[in-house]
Amino acid sequence: MALLKVLKVPDPRLKLKAHPVEKVDADIQRLMDDMLETMYHDKGCGLAATQVGIQKRIVVIDFADERTPKPLLMANPEIVWYSDRREAFTEGCLSVPNQWTSIVRASSVKFQYLDRHNKRQELTVDGILGACIQHEIDHLNGVLFIDHLSSLKRNLLLRRAIKLKED
Ligand code: NI
Repeated sequence: MALLKVLKVPDPRLKLKAHPVEKVDADIQRLMDDMLETMYHDKGCGLAATQVGIQKRIVVIDFADERTPKPLLMANPEIVWYSDRREAFTEGCLSVPNQWTSIVRASSVKFQYLDRHNKRQELTVDGILGACIQHEIDHLNGVLFIDHLSSLKRNLLLRRAIKLKED
């Protein structure tokens, strides 16, 4: 396994849209494993391939939640249902260093993905894990959690994150 470099704002590659993978083969499994190692190393609980400069629809998540496989390694994750009910959770992101803020999202979602063995899976989750799935899939579409904020608040967090990186 190998550690990958996590891109930080304002890297323009964070805005790129990732492409679906055809199949979870040995190369994709290796990427999933490297992303997981990188996520543990940087003390994150979710990481999207976009954040390591690879435009493939791959997400890894590890969360203290007994209802889902741990870790959750996903190719082509796609949300197929959003609850009408919405809920706010405090979010942060390895690509936006040391900034945390409350983001309102659907309080539960149903999603499908290919697992590490190329098997199609479907899960319905709520709580912070539901927020995390939405956050990571946003990354695959070039969207950061701060993009859900007003431009005033977004720019404040962005400036702080960039300043931290330069210090
Ligand atoms: Ni993130």
